[in-house]
Amino acid sequence: MVSKARMAVSLGGIQMRNPVNTASGTFGYGWQFEGMYDVARLGAITCKGVAAEPWPGNPAPRVAEVRSGILNSVGLQNPGAEAFCAEYGDYLSGLAERGCAVILQAVGHSVDECKAAVEALDSLAPWAAGFEVNVSCPNLSRGGKLLGGTPEDAAEVVRAVRPLTTRPLLVKLAPLDVSNIARACEDAGADALSLTNTVNAMSIDVHTRRSRLSRPTGGLSGPAIHPIAVRMVWEAAQAVSIPINGIGGIETWEDAAEMILAGATSVSVGTANMYDPASASRVVDGLAAWADEQGVSDINELIGAFEC
Ligand SMILES: Cc1cc2nc3c(=O)[nH]c(=O)nc-3n(C[C@H](O)[C@H](O)[C@H](O)COP(=O)(O)O)c2cc1C
Repeated sequence: MVSKARMAVSLGGIQMRNPVNTASGTFGYGWQFEGMYDVARLGAITCKGVAAEPWPGNPAPRVAEVRSGILNSVGLQNPGAEAFCAEYGDYLSGLAERGCAVILQAVGHSVDECKAAVEALDSLAPWAAGFEVNVSCPNLSRGGKLLGGTPEDAAEVVRAVRPLTTRPLLVKLAPLDVSNIARACEDAGADALSLTNTVNAMSIDVHTRRSRLSRPTGGLSGPAIHPIAVRMVWEAAQAVSIPINGIGGIETWEDAAEMILAGATSVSVGTANMYDPASASRVVDGLAAWADEQGVSDINELIGAFEC
């Protein structure tokens, strides 16, 4: 679909040919989707979280279907930065050359582990357009409270990792006190924010009386969380001036357009990739048609154009 409107956006310095990104952990490392469509059509992909060292993740069952979404407790399984770059670097650098920005997500169970992940990825992945630090993980060095659960804690992570790369730095927020946490991340030097991560939730098998996951709770994602995520993007957009990557239950171009009107510069398709693998590509076309229908010459004119 060729749009008359200009579709390129800048996500905190990450140049995207259109506003469509993929949400970490729902799109593998990109190559898995090449058989479905040309992945380089997307503005960006965000890879699953990578730590400095390999993490095994949680025991099965890790995913359970619930109404209008899924619950997961994958536990950020990943091969570690070195193995990740050795195995997927060729594909991802080629994807970057084809014009799709590759965003790498850094994860850690403490501020020091986040630093180690960003440092390792920055030196091993010259092809990455930028980094996203996930502050929605438990901080095991502080009794398991979320790394970025408060404005102070989130800012501490951002201040620690900011000096470790000159490339754009995104922060992926949990669905908590978003306005205040967003402001704290901006003040600490974040270039953009991704929100939101999954919503803490629970599902019980009434026959066995056990959790439908291997742990009592997990993260809810998919259409069930979309209106919550739109509200959070809108609130964060009022609070900060850095760009926002809107995430949560996007499966159609209309869902993506809603996020843009609420104030998102870009959008990430997440769980929808898992049940409708071509959805992100369709969102690219749908947004282009929408921009034309709205009569704008540049998609940026629609960012935050919501009127109450
Ligand atoms: C199976 C699965 C794995 C995920 N892994 C990650 C991850 O590694 N890092 C992260 O920040 N978010 C992770 N997420 C959260 C998504 O990136 C996204 O923020 C969330 O699912 C909400 O978007 P959605 O409703 O479109 O899926 C994961 C989600 C799912 C369903």
